[in-house]
Amino acid sequence: MPNLQLLGNVKPAHLGLALMIAASALGLLYVLAVKPIYNLLLHPLPQVPGPQALGRQPPALHLQYGADIVRVAPDELSFLRPDAWREVMGYIPRGVPENEKDPLIFRGLNVEDSVIGAPRDRHRVMRAMLSHGFSASRMLDQQPIIMRYIDLLVERLREKAVVDRGIPLNMVLWYNYATFDIIGDLAFGEAFGCLESAALHPWVAVVFSWIKLNARVVQYRRTVPWLGDLIDSVLGRMATEQVKEHMGYARLRRLDAAHRQGRPVPDAQPARGEREPVHRRGLRDHGVDPVVRVVPAAHPPDKMQKVTDELFATFARDDEINFNSVQSLKYMIAMFEEALRIFPPVPVTVPRVTPPGGRQICGDHIPENTKLGIWHYSMYHHPGNFALPEEFHPERWLGEDPRFAHDRKEAFEPFSHGSRNCLGKNLAYAEMRTIMARMLFNFDMRLADGYERWADGIQIHNLFEKSPLFIHLTPRGDHERAHLRSKH
Ligand code: HEM
Repeated sequence: MPNLQLLGNVKPAHLGLALMIAASALGLLYVLAVKPIYNLLLHPLPQVPGPQALGRQPPALHLQYGADIVRVAPDELSFLRPDAWREVMGYIPRGVPENEKDPLIFRGLNVEDSVIGAPRDRHRVMRAMLSHGFSASRMLDQQPIIMRYIDLLVERLREKAVVDRGIPLNMVLWYNYATFDIIGDLAFGEAFGCLESAALHPWVAVVFSWIKLNARVVQYRRTVPWLGDLIDSVLGRMATEQVKEHMGYARLRRLDAAHRQGRPVPDAQPARGEREPVHRRGLRDHGVDPVVRVVPAAHPPDKMQKVTDELFATFARDDEINFNSVQSLKYMIAMFEEALRIFPPVPVTVPRVTPPGGRQICGDHIPENTKLGIWHYSMYHHPGNFALPEEFHPERWLGEDPRFAHDRKEAFEPFSHGSRNCLGKNLAYAEMRTIMARMLFNFDMRLADGYERWADGIQIHNLFEKSPLFIHLTPRGDHERAHLRSKH
C-alpha cells in the first residue's frame, strides 16, 4: 500500500493544495476535452449546422452556413424563419409551459421586480397592471404633456439655429434631451430639464453605462460560461450596483414629486413591477432611435423630399400636427418601418429557453433547456426575408414596388411578438412620427458633410451605441412654407 504511506506523510496544507491543483486540472480537462467532445458527438443538437465554439455572431453565422436555423453555441439556436416568432414567442394556452426568458440574461438583476424578466405568473399580473397606462385613451391623455416638450424642442432648436447660424447640431443629443424630458415627466410628473439646460442629466449617463456593462456581462457569460461565477462576482456586481443607483434615484424622484404635488408619499418599497421597469425600458431611448436614423438613412435626399412634400400637402399649420393626424402620412409611416428594419432599436435577441421535455419548433423537436434566439438585426437583413436588405426603401412597405413583392413582412417584429411584446409600441410610434413631422415642418434638415456613412461606425451593446450625428437645421419661415404648400 505505498500510496497510503505516502499520503500519511503529506501535511494537511499540502494536501489541500494538491487537491486544488487536481480539481483545476480536472476542470481544465473537462473544458478543453470532455465538453468539446460531448458537444461535437453526443449533444442532442448535432444535426443543426453551426460552430462548436462561440466567437462569431449570428448574422455572420447564418451567412457562413447558408442556413435559416444555426447553432450559435452548444445549447443555443438562432432562427431566421418568420414563423419562428410565433413558435418561439407566440401565445401559449394556460397550463402549457412557455419558453421562459433565459435566466442568464437577468441573473442578479432582481428579475422579480422587472416585468421584462419576471416568470410567467408574475408577468401576467404586472402586465395587466401596466397595460392600462399604455391604453389608447391614456395615450391621448398624455398627448398634451408630450406636445409641450416637442414644442420646447422646436423652440430651442430655432434659437440655436439662429445663434449658431451655419453650425450643424448633434441631433443624437437633442432628440435624447427631448425624449428623456418626456419620460421624466410621464414617469415622475417632472422633466429632467435636459432641453432647458441643453445637457443630459447624470442619471441618464448611469442608464446608458448600465446597458453597456450589462451587454458585456451577458456576452462573457455566454462565451465563457465556466467562468460564470467569477464574471458574476466582478462585472455582475458592478452592473447590479448601477441598477441600484438607478432604482434609488427613481425612488427619490418619485418621493420628491409626490411631496411637491401634495400627493401621499408612495410606500417605502417600490411597488413591485409597477414603475421602474417601464422607466428603464422607456429610458433606453424612448423611441428616438428611428427618428435619429431617418435623415442619414434617407441620404441622398430624394426620400426626404418625398416625405416633406407629403407633409406640406397634408398640413397648413404646425398645430394641426398631432398623434391622430400623423397617421395619414403614409410615406412617413413607411419611412419609419424601413428605419426600424434597417436599424432595429433592439438589434440583438432576448433569448427564450425550451421547457422540460423540449418543444416542437419550426418542424423539429428541440430538446429541453435549449436557448432560442431571434436576432432582430439578422432577421431583417436576411436576403431570404427582404429583397435588397441593406438598402433603405420605404417603398417596400407601400406595396407598390414589384421589387419587394416577395418580401416576407411577417419577419418584421421590431417590438417583439406575443404576450411579452413591447407595451410602449403605440406610444413610440405616435411620438416618433409627431417629432419627425414637427421637425420637418419647422426646419429644412441637411446632413453635415462627412456624415453620409454615419451608420457604418455604430456599435451594438444590446442597443446601438450612437456616435454624434451632425445635421444643418435651417428654420423655415412662413414664406417658404407657403411656397412648399403651393406645390400641391
Ligand atoms: C422604437 C421604440 C421601441 C422599441 C423598438 C421597443 C422594443 C421592445 C422589444 C423588442 C421588447 C421585447 C423585449 C423582450 O423580448 O423581452 C420590448 C418590451 C417592452 N417595452 Fe419596448 N420598445 C420601444 C419603446 C418603448 C417605450 C417608449 C416604452 C415605454 C415607455 C417601452 C416599454 C416596454 C415594456 C414595458 C416592455 C416589456 C413588456 C413585457 O415584458 O411584458 N418600449 N420593447
